[in-house]
Order: sequence, then C-alpha cells, then structure tokens
Amino acid sequence: MEAMPLPRRVHPGAGRLPMVEGGWEWTGTSTPRLARAAHRLRDQVAGVAGAGRGCHVSISCGVSAEFPALGDDDSYRLAIDRREARVEAPQEWGVLRAFATLTQLVQADADGPCLPVLTVDDAPRFPWRGLMIDTARHFVRTETLLRTLDAMALFKLNVLHLHLSDDQAFRFASRAFPELADAKRHYSAAELRALVHEAADRGIRVVPELDVPGHVASWLAVHPEWGLGEAVTAPATRFGPHSCCLDPDNPSAVQAAQALFGELAEVFPDRFVHFGGDEVQLPGGDETGELQAAFNAPVVARLGELGRTPVAWDEAIHPDLPRDVVIQSWRGTSARARALAAGFDTVHSAGYYLDLSYPADLHYLSDPQHGPDPDLLADPRLAHVRPGLDMLQHVWRSDPAAAPTAPDSGRVLGAEACMWTELVTDDLLPLRVWSRMPAIAERLWSDAAVRDVDGMYRRLAAGHARLASTGIVDLDAVTTRGLERLGLSAADRAELAPLLDALEPVKWYARLLGPAAMARRSAGEAEDAAARPYDTTTELNRVIDLLPPESLAARRLARETDVGKLRETAAGWRRQRRCIERLGATVPAIAELDGVSTVLRDLAEVLDRFLDGEPADVPDDAFEPRGEYVLAVAGALAARFAA
Ligand code: ACM
Repeated sequence: MEAMPLPRRVHPGAGRLPMVEGGWEWTGTSTPRLARAAHRLRDQVAGVAGAGRGCHVSISCGVSAEFPALGDDDSYRLAIDRREARVEAPQEWGVLRAFATLTQLVQADADGPCLPVLTVDDAPRFPWRGLMIDTARHFVRTETLLRTLDAMALFKLNVLHLHLSDDQAFRFASRAFPELADAKRHYSAAELRALVHEAADRGIRVVPELDVPGHVASWLAVHPEWGLGEAVTAPATRFGPHSCCLDPDNPSAVQAAQALFGELAEVFPDRFVHFGGDEVQLPGGDETGELQAAFNAPVVARLGELGRTPVAWDEAIHPDLPRDVVIQSWRGTSARARALAAGFDTVHSAGYYLDLSYPADLHYLSDPQHGPDPDLLADPRLAHVRPGLDMLQHVWRSDPAAAPTAPDSGRVLGAEACMWTELVTDDLLPLRVWSRMPAIAERLWSDAAVRDVDGMYRRLAAGHARLASTGIVDLDAVTTRGLERLGLSAADRAELAPLLDALEPVKWYARLLGPAAMARRSAGEAEDAAARPYDTTTELNRVIDLLPPESLAARRLARETDVGKLRETAAGWRRQRRCIERLGATVPAIAELDGVSTVLRDLAEVLDRFLDGEPADVPDDAFEPRGEYVLAVAGALAARFAA
C-alpha cells in the first residue's frame, strides 16, 4: 500500500523485509517516549502482521523537548532493506512520523507479513496540521479524544484544538469558577493534563479554546451580571448564534475571562491559546466590532503576560488587534486574504469544515495557501444547497473589509479541519471525522502539487482499512452498532446495505437548519431559530446519523466497468426493498427510508436497461433530496452512462 499522506520522496527498492515471529528488535537511540511509541507500533501492526511478528528497527535521532512546539522538525528518513528498517531524524518527532509510515507499509502477501524494501525521505509542507473538536455542543469523552490522538498520529497531524466552551456548555473545570462547568460532563484539569501528555507522546500539540466574548450563553446562565443582550437563564439548548455576549465595560466579566485564561495556561503548555471571537451578536443585529475589540484587548494583554500567543477566529481582526495574534480564517478565502494582508499569521479552516458532509475531494482540492478553491456553486453534488452557498459567499465577499489592500505580510502556518458537533455524538465522532480527515491530512503534509484525486481516494480507502486493522477506529462498526441499536439483525443489515451504500446526508447546513430556516437563510432573511429541527436534546439515532458523509460506493460505481458487478449492484438495489417492506411498519427509522428506497429500486431498472444496451436515463427526481437523504448513486450512475 501507499502511505497517506503521500511522502515527499519514495525511492522504491526490490524485495521485502519479512516480519517474523519474535522478530522485534530495537537498537540505536532509546528514550522513554520512543519506547512507548514502539509499543504502540507493535500493537497497531499486529492486526496485519500477526501478534509478536516484527523486524529489526534501528533508530538515530536527537532528543526532543517535553512538549512539541510550532516549527519543530518533523522530517525523517526511513530506509527499509532486506535485513532491517532504519529510521533517521533530527528529532524524536520525526521518528514518530516514520513509525506512522511504517505502520501503513506493513503488508501480508502470500509469503507472510513483510515491509517493502524502499527508502522514504519525508517532511511536512506546513508546521500546523490541525483538527478542531467542538466539545461543547456534544460532549466528547476523554477516551474518544485519546483514540483521536492515535488516528491523528497515523496521518501525521500535529495539533488538536479543543473548543471547550460555547452557548450550550462549558467543559473546563475551573478552580476559580467551578460553577461554570457543566455539572455532569466536563474535563478536570487532571484529565486535560493527562491528555496533553498523551498528545505530546504522539508529537501532537493541544491548543485550548474558550470562546469569548460571544457564544457565552453557558457562562451567562450562571453569571447573568457579566452579560449584554438577550437575558439568559440556562445554557442554550438551541443551536446557532445567540444574541448575548460578555460586557467589556464590566470589570468582573473581564477579570473572570482573564483568570480563566490564566488557568488554561497552567494546564496547557502550548504557546498558543485560542480565545474564540466568532459570531458576536446582540439583539437587533447591532454592529459588535468595537465592542468585541474592547473585550479582546485585556484578554490578549493577559495572554501576552502569560507568555502565550493568542489565536482568534477571523471576526476578531481589528486595527487595534496586536499583529502577533494568529487568525484562524473560517469565513472563506476572503477572510484569509484579509488576515494575511493585515499582517496576521493565519491558520486556515474555510474549506475544511467536516460538519458540512462534503465529499473528501472538495476538502482535498482546497489549498491552505493558494486559491482557487473548488467551485462549490458549480458542483452537482451540492446543487440542492446552491442558494444557501451562494448567499453566504455573497455575504462574506461583500464584507467592506474583505478586500485586502496591502501586500501579504502574514504567513499561512497551516490549517485546521473543524468538527462542530451540533449533529455529532461521542459515538458518531470517529465516523464523521475520519471518513474524510485523512484527505485533509495529506493536503497539509504533502507537496502542493500532490492533487491527483483518484490516487487520494485509493489511499483514503487504504487509510480507513488501516485505522480498522490497527484497532484505532473501525468506521463501519460505528454504523453497525447504530443499526443494531435500531433492532436490525445481521441479515437485515446485509439486505439494507445496498441502500445505505447509495445514500448520503444533505450537504452544507441543510440538516442543521431544516427546510424552513434554509429557505429564509437562502433568501437572506433573518432566521427563525425556533424553526430549526435539532437542538441539544434531539437524539441522534436515526439512519441519517449513521451514514458516512460520503458514499464511496457511489464513487466506485461511476468507474465500474465489470458488467457482472453492475448486474449484482442492480440486484442489491432491488433486494433492499424487502427489508424496507418487512421493517417499515414497526421501525420508524426504517419507514422514513421508503421514498429513497423506492427510487433506488427504480434505478435498478434503469441500470439493467443500460446493461441490456437500451436507452437509459437517470430521472431528474432521483437527484432531489428526500428529507435529509440524497441518493448519491444518481449522479454516479449518470456519470457512468456518460462515460
Ligand atoms: C465558526 O464556525 N463559528 C468559527
């Protein structure tokens, strides 16, 4: 298999290094961190190589500091010959990256498990390769975060950004303000310290965020005296921005924020601390830029006193904001351009929103540094949300400050994918993240010129298989567990599989907003928050929740030329009706699939006609979403017919 992210240079050789019983032997540089990494490596490759089967690994590297830091050297050379695997790296971090490559290279052929003979010379394109996880909308257990670190390490990601507070909950157990933390679901300082150490063991920095001065309903529920705007009596259950914020003219509010950032700095050793700054709103849509700048100034000053570099979402850009703040650009490439022109170093996130259910290639072809991004408005897979996309792009680009006026003086440090969790539970998180995240990891590590989409999808599928074989996370198992909870037997699931494989969730914010709020948003009208179908109390246990955001089966179908396989596909599309007809009357979660199921059965007829050499067309209505479901195979079939 090829490693993902694709390494900078691979010099293929001839032959194989066998992984033999009792064969693990480690020589050269030895540190406690590398010993733990070697242990993980042995465990993770056991699924492919067999328990205890290994090879000789020699290591030569410098010893790294206790915690990784921005700009550390991740480069490495991995040379595998018929006798041993040799790792050379300036620092321990590079050895960890080499181990990730090694883990992906282990294969089992007819002669048993082995590594291919080759030499890899590798180094990342960007020093900041991150994943942001929103722990506020739905809590994410520390065990899940630990598994996330393992998966991040496998794909050479090196920043975990924890969004620790929002309107719905405050997850950081503070000493000074213990009343802020969600009573049941929060992280203690000890848990977070342990997480930071586990992350450092994998060469991953942890950047904490408390979001101020907006997105603070959970703070104001406890301390209403700190706030401006809408009265708050309880942490929010509804999603979307709230019209309240911390009051910059209230010394208690400002001092509380300063104290909380001081506590964060005690727990998180990283140089960077995120103070949020997005979507500050007040009733009546009042302009909040100056208010926000007034609140940010003392927070930024305090972080400076603590020796930390503040990070903020792009709304925080203001003439008074010190230029050593790092801006995280999320409102399109225009926000990035504005941040760079104003002289801010930037971490780019527009293009990498995992909550939008976009296919991997759209993220992959979005570059942290260079435009243009994929044209979302022209993509047929997003046709059902085009008015909303169009509206938002228009709003962002028409921001009077959007057009940069100065030549770029800031630097792109890298990028972060964002996993907002309005519609994601702890159980679903691995599926939502890792379905597409390896593609983003490759974008951030590999050379800018690595842009072959078919190659990426090949490596992505192999990456998913490797996540499962290493025991880190099995994406299929997330769906299977959910279907079992709905009462589906193994036979039911097998019969239903061709339907589930054909489906995707609607894109962009269509699920989160629902049809009524979507229509208003697309028309540029003020949103009626009550019209949204989901809040924090909604159970996420329907089939729509269990689907991977992208149907890889649909992608394969568009390229399938084997007539036998296509006949079998059509047969499966017919067979799934039996499961719907059998369970629809008793299982509501299955009944709601009746519409898409019927259309898929009809597509089976269309496919068979095509295979019989008769005229065949995908009917227009097969492309229309039904509720929250899209039949991804409709577009794939049309592409197959056109090929
Ligand atoms: C954001 O998505 N509100 C940063």
